[in-house]
Amino acid sequence: MTEKELRRLVKDMSRKEKIGQLLQLPGALLSGGEEVATGPLAELGLSEEDVYLAGSVLGVWSPGEIRRLQQSYVKRHPHHIPLLFMLDVINGCDTIYPIPLGLGATFDPALVKKLSKMSARETALNGIHVTFSPMVDTVRDARWGRCMESTGEDPYLNRVMARAMVRGYQGREYERTGTFEDSRVAACVKHFAAYGAPTAGRDYNNVELSERTLREDYLPAYQAAVDAGVSMVMTSFNTLNRVPSTGNRWLMHDVLRREWGFEGVVITDYAAVAEMLAHGIAEDAREAARLAMAADVDIEMCTSCYPRELPGLLEDRTVSEKQLDAAVMRVLSLKNALGLFENPYRDLDEERVEQECLSDENRRKARRGAEESFVLLKNDGILPLAPETKTALIGPYIDSREMYGAWSFIDSESVVSIREAAEKKKNKSVPFTFAKGCEILDRGTKLIGFTDVYENTATEEEEERMLEEAVAAAKEADTAVLCLGEHRAQSGEAASRAEITLPECQLRLLRAVAAVNPNTAVVLFNGRPLDLREVSELAKAILVVWFPGTEGGSAIVNTLLGRNNPSGKLPISFPYCVGQVPVHYAQLITGRPLAGSDPNNRFLSRYTDIPNEPLYPFGFGLSYTTFEISPVRLDTAEISRNKKAENRSLTATVTVTNTGDRAGCEVVQLYLRDYAGSVARPIRELRGFERVTLGAGESAEVSFTVTEKMLRFWTIDGAYASEPGRFALYIGSSSGTENGADFTLC
Ligand code: BGC
Repeated sequence: MTEKELRRLVKDMSRKEKIGQLLQLPGALLSGGEEVATGPLAELGLSEEDVYLAGSVLGVWSPGEIRRLQQSYVKRHPHHIPLLFMLDVINGCDTIYPIPLGLGATFDPALVKKLSKMSARETALNGIHVTFSPMVDTVRDARWGRCMESTGEDPYLNRVMARAMVRGYQGREYERTGTFEDSRVAACVKHFAAYGAPTAGRDYNNVELSERTLREDYLPAYQAAVDAGVSMVMTSFNTLNRVPSTGNRWLMHDVLRREWGFEGVVITDYAAVAEMLAHGIAEDAREAARLAMAADVDIEMCTSCYPRELPGLLEDRTVSEKQLDAAVMRVLSLKNALGLFENPYRDLDEERVEQECLSDENRRKARRGAEESFVLLKNDGILPLAPETKTALIGPYIDSREMYGAWSFIDSESVVSIREAAEKKKNKSVPFTFAKGCEILDRGTKLIGFTDVYENTATEEEEERMLEEAVAAAKEADTAVLCLGEHRAQSGEAASRAEITLPECQLRLLRAVAAVNPNTAVVLFNGRPLDLREVSELAKAILVVWFPGTEGGSAIVNTLLGRNNPSGKLPISFPYCVGQVPVHYAQLITGRPLAGSDPNNRFLSRYTDIPNEPLYPFGFGLSYTTFEISPVRLDTAEISRNKKAENRSLTATVTVTNTGDRAGCEVVQLYLRDYAGSVARPIRELRGFERVTLGAGESAEVSFTVTEKMLRFWTIDGAYASEPGRFALYIGSSSGTENGADFTLC
């Protein structure tokens, strides 16, 4: 449809129809029809007509059901306007690849884009039009369970990944022409804004950030998604400086729409309009609806303040018809861009789902994604397993197929377990034995998942027997590989933890195994940074595998055998212990820094009982080979802010050499430091990175261009600008590198 035709359509729609476009309901409610009229429908205060006029649907992931709903809806709707189907597809639809935190660890935006494109195709075939991804919240507090959904603590890395995901989902065609090509889905960036900084790491908690910190560290990733043409933005649950995002006109209107020019659809998070009552910012549903409309929020997710209150608000002109029409027009424009008016089913194709989803090709891509996401934190020479090494694979994860994170709506039978993958390779080189050792959770822990409840139901005797078998297997073996970690329901939404250690039963297993076999390695499943002090002491090697997805087992076995050489880097600092959080590398220095001071001086900014540094810093990760990075060479040590000057940028170069005996990949990272600004500046900030793959003994030059633009920050005057002065740049293999050179901006 042309824009003119769309406008004509809006003009022709009744008020009720228009308000309907601004309502999203859960699929179950639509499927249930009249049966549920006395249940959730009654609670929502919606009539059957309201339900049948709703413009979009959340959470249906059955292509047959989507077809059925769309068919009956379009037929019944007065203007035959199709529904939008939306779902959280955050790491693949049928073929699951690593959780977003694992994707952050790849430092490989090209790979992330490819995986997002694969996900879009599977999602589209399943009949879904919009994915609630990417989640780009900056996360610095390991207690928060939703660390797993983000690409980490760093605004620059998050920006790069946000762009890659949006482009992978939506495709360039949409960016160029505003129309989606086949096999693509609309992306929805979330949770705007700053949901990743809840006080004390407790989910849904309030967020207090200065505007400067917000603009420097939190907003850039959302803006990168907007600049990449993201179709939708989701509001966050939290209050930001005491105003809930869903009713925050400054955030939604002034910043998002005016400053950034976002013209797409804004949707609330689940029930967030009604939650403004609980937040104590609205006395009733009418006020909540008014606040959300005033903030230019288009779609209300799963509560009913808009359908119940907008008629009255429009009647007394508190909300104007123009405002309503603008919101409806945004929703209809998205439907139009997806081609739904011409074909309400779009890519939906049950046969193709059977043929293509989970295909060998998609599995191969997911496996590659998993392999690249693994981070080798420690290795005292026991990995990879040498041929003929008798290896005991031990731990609750060797048989678990549940090695995928939250928001994976799959049948776990499609997942390759570690045992399965190892058995395939068993006779070839490395002889494997297996023992479970313990359950994932401690007895007495009860986890309430989205739909299931998880508990350890083993008896004490069964636990003792498992432990004995594991110890016996470890004794017999040359190397013990312990596959341990968080339960998948321990991270994700509503999964904040005050203690970030492994469950005690797993630590007991580790202690018992390490006591009989000094060659113990740990493969670690986790959706957040964990306190790894004891693991680091007892294990000779640690391989972080996050939640790797469908091909997790194969990727892990390939890596243990050396067929994959780990190259992942931490996208988030692993704290020394929970008392250190929130912790991140790009901190302000303080007036009394510990680094470089006399450690006997009491009056320094530090803890008296633990180090200031995290146990494993951002950007850190080892390889089975070793790399050397030469000192930094600059082509000039001065760049100019003057637009007419010739030296507007400088080039910093290093030589990277693979000094080991096997091929590998190093992520070479560029950090910048501003020695003094009109406001205090972080100790360093990531401003670039490059993956370099080198054969044994090979070298390559890696260069980064530093421009004036890269030195800008939110100055004392409240604008992004650079200030003349002295800077440092560092190029190395983690945020801890000291390989640097100084330069001046004049
Ligand atoms: C989550 C969102 C998600 C939405 C819809 C909410 O509970 O916070 O991230 O997109 O549900 O499933």
